[in-house]
Amino acid sequence: MSHLFSPLSLGPLSLSNRIVIAPMCQYSADEGRATDWHAQHLGTLSQSGAGLLILEAAAVEARGRISWADLGLWDDATEAALGQALASVRRWSKMPLGIQLAHAGRKASTARPWDGGGAIAPGQAHGWQVVAPSALPFNEGDPLPQALDAAGIDAVVEAFAAAARRAARLGLELIEVHAAHGYLLHQFLSPLSNRRDDDYGGLLENRMRLLLRVFDAVRAAVPAGVAVGVRISATDWVDGGWDVAQSIVVARALEARGSDFIHVSSGGLDPRQQIPVGPGYQVPLASAIKAQVATPVIAVGLITEPRQAETILAEGHADAIGIARGILYDPRWPWHAAAELGAQVHAAPQYLRCQPHGLRELFQ
Ligand SMILES: Cc1cc2nc3c(=O)[nH]c(=O)nc-3n(C[C@H](O)[C@H](O)[C@H](O)COP(=O)(O)O)c2cc1C
Repeated sequence: MSHLFSPLSLGPLSLSNRIVIAPMCQYSADEGRATDWHAQHLGTLSQSGAGLLILEAAAVEARGRISWADLGLWDDATEAALGQALASVRRWSKMPLGIQLAHAGRKASTARPWDGGGAIAPGQAHGWQVVAPSALPFNEGDPLPQALDAAGIDAVVEAFAAAARRAARLGLELIEVHAAHGYLLHQFLSPLSNRRDDDYGGLLENRMRLLLRVFDAVRAAVPAGVAVGVRISATDWVDGGWDVAQSIVVARALEARGSDFIHVSSGGLDPRQQIPVGPGYQVPLASAIKAQVATPVIAVGLITEPRQAETILAEGHADAIGIARGILYDPRWPWHAAAELGAQVHAAPQYLRCQPHGLRELFQ
């Protein structure tokens, strides 16, 4: 019996296997509104046989977008556009769908990656004033962020809750709060970007206050049947920054508040980061956190081979496997993994006749 293809519950949500399509920004929205790109991109991924598809980071307010082309979920128009993009996906796929809710903070207002990805100053085309815990830019020379005041922090919490309500209304079954990769919630967590001297800065208890408030607000905003969890960067990979020990404290606090999963990534906060990139390079981080919590842990990062994924689960380092680039490269990765591991995967009836000769029981 394959570990990768055994079922898993993330709180109220049952997955048929442990392959999670990690969120991937598409930089293809129109004023935050999903487009036909999203319909076809999500349509493809939803026919892959994965256990769960987490939609890309959706900004909870316009100034929280990484770039002007990011997906948003902050008003009726963005909600309606996403609903339209999801209609055909839902019609033809049974795959559970989640969404990542995000605010980019000081890493907002940038060009699309294929246009260079650099910061765009307010007043320039596609640029706006960014906000952060403290007035410290990501890169030296980037436009200065504005430090959020108490009312601004309250507004961020409410924006996450409002976006969560919209996500639940769209029938999305899981919400992932984005507290990784150097975006706003991670900026509050890390002492490198948070130099506040109020209730939101200094001690770890204060730095994690905003994330916990956002988690509680999102959890309270959606019905109990919607799974809610958090993606964290378990380390900044910079001395004196956010690290695994602090991540364990935050993971335990989230678990105590009912987090249905912790998705463990790393980095993105500070350009000085030294990341030991290689196959499964973030798995030890997931493993360290899994050892301290009972809530399911998703490992991600250069997990590209079915047997590699199987071993990570068999050895108890994580409960599920996130995959991003690997499934863009091979959108039938779960089919190929099932074939290699002698397991079964769900396929749409229209595709059943493609079953390779000799693999009689590939499809459920
Ligand atoms: C095109 C692209 C877009 C991404 N967008 C997001 C995102 O919206 N939110 C997020 O948390 N991570 C994002 N990531 C990171 C992935 O979710 C994943 O953590 C990372 O790529 C490592 O996994 P992989 O080696 O399987 O690609 C993105 C990665 C790629 C390649």
